Amino acid sequence: MDNLLEKNERYGLKHCLPALESLIRERKTFFANPTGNAFYFNRALQDLPELTPSSVSLDSSKILIGSRADADDQSYKRLSENLFRLCPWRKGPFQVFGVDIDSEWQSWMKWDRFKHVLPDPAGKKILDIGSSNGYYMFRAAAFDPLLVLGVEPQHSFYYQYLALQKYLGLDNLSCIPAGFERLPAMDRYFDLVFCMGILYHRKSPIEMLAQIKRMMRPGGMLVLDNLVLDSAADMCLFPESRYAKMRNVFFIPDLKCMQSWLKRAGFSSVSCVDVSKTTKEEQRKTFWIQTESLADFLDPLDPDHTVEGYPAPVRAVFTACA
Ligand SMILES: C[S@@+](CC[C@H](N)C(=O)[O-])C[C@H]1O[C@@H](n2cnc3c(N)ncnc32)[C@H](O)[C@@H]1O
Repeated sequence: MDNLLEKNERYGLKHCLPALESLIRERKTFFANPTGNAFYFNRALQDLPELTPSSVSLDSSKILIGSRADADDQSYKRLSENLFRLCPWRKGPFQVFGVDIDSEWQSWMKWDRFKHVLPDPAGKKILDIGSSNGYYMFRAAAFDPLLVLGVEPQHSFYYQYLALQKYLGLDNLSCIPAGFERLPAMDRYFDLVFCMGILYHRKSPIEMLAQIKRMMRPGGMLVLDNLVLDSAADMCLFPESRYAKMRNVFFIPDLKCMQSWLKRAGFSSVSCVDVSKTTKEEQRKTFWIQTESLADFLDPLDPDHTVEGYPAPVRAVFTACA
C-alpha cells in the first residue's frame, strides 16, 4: 500500500490523495497488529525464508518465481510449510522456488479467454476488483503497466499476495485490503478495469457497474466476468437462498440481461467474448484447499444442475467501453 502513496505524483493521484491516505492509514493500523485469522496469516508471512529468485515468469499459465536451486533444503521446507499455512489457495497456479501451489482454480483458463481482446497494458492504470492473491495482477504486470491496483477484503488472499510480492517485489503493483466500495472517488482514473467473479455477489449490480464506469477514463476498457444463464431471453435468476452452496449470490443474468445492465450503467461497445460452463478441470479440490469445490456443488445424479436444482455454473466474459 505504501508504494501507492510514495509514487502518487507518478500515478496522478493528487485528486483523491487525502481520502486514499486516510483509507490506507486505517488499513495499515489494522495490519500493524492484526487480530483473528489475520494474526495467524501474518505469522506465516513473517516466517517465510529470505530468498531471491534467479528468474521470474509472469506471462505463463503457472506463474514461476525462482527455482528449486535458489533455496537450500531447510529454506525450501520452511517455505512450503509457511505457504501452506496461507491456505486456501483458490487462484493460481504458482511455482515458488520449486513449491508447486496447485490452486483450486486453473485461473489461466479465464485469462486465456480474454487476453486476445485486451488493449496493450503498457503504461496503463489498471484496477482489479476482488484481486484475490493477485494472480491476474501478476499476469498484467508482465506487460509493463504504469500501475495495477488490486482491492481484496479477504485476509487469507491478501496475505498470499504479500507472500508472493515478498519474492517478486513488483513496485508498480499495489493491493488495498478492503472492499471496492471503500475506494475514494477516483473519477476518470483507470484505463482498464477487471471486475471478475464479483457482480453476482452484489445486491445492487447496476450501481456497482455505474460506480466502476465513473472511475474509468472515457474510452477505457472494462473486462467483466460473471455467472450467467446461457440464454438470451432477458431473464435473471435470483436464488431463493443458496446457489451452488454459496449464500451470497444475488442476481445471475442471462446474456442479454447482462448486456442491458452494462448499457444502462453507461457503457458502450458491449461485447460478449466468451461463454464457458465451469468444468472439474477448471475448478477442483486440491491439496492446497481444504474446503468443498465444484464437484460438491453439483447434483451427483445430474451434474447439469447445482445441488439446489439451478442450472450449473456458466460464466461469461464481456468487454465494454467506458
Ligand atoms: C469469486 S472470487 C474472484 C476472484 C478473481 N477476481 C477471479 O476472477 O478469479 C471473488 C473475490 O472478490 C473478493 N471480494 C468480495 N467482496 C468484495 C468487495 N466488496 N470488493 C472487492 N472484492 C471483494 C473476494 O474476497 C474474492 O477474492
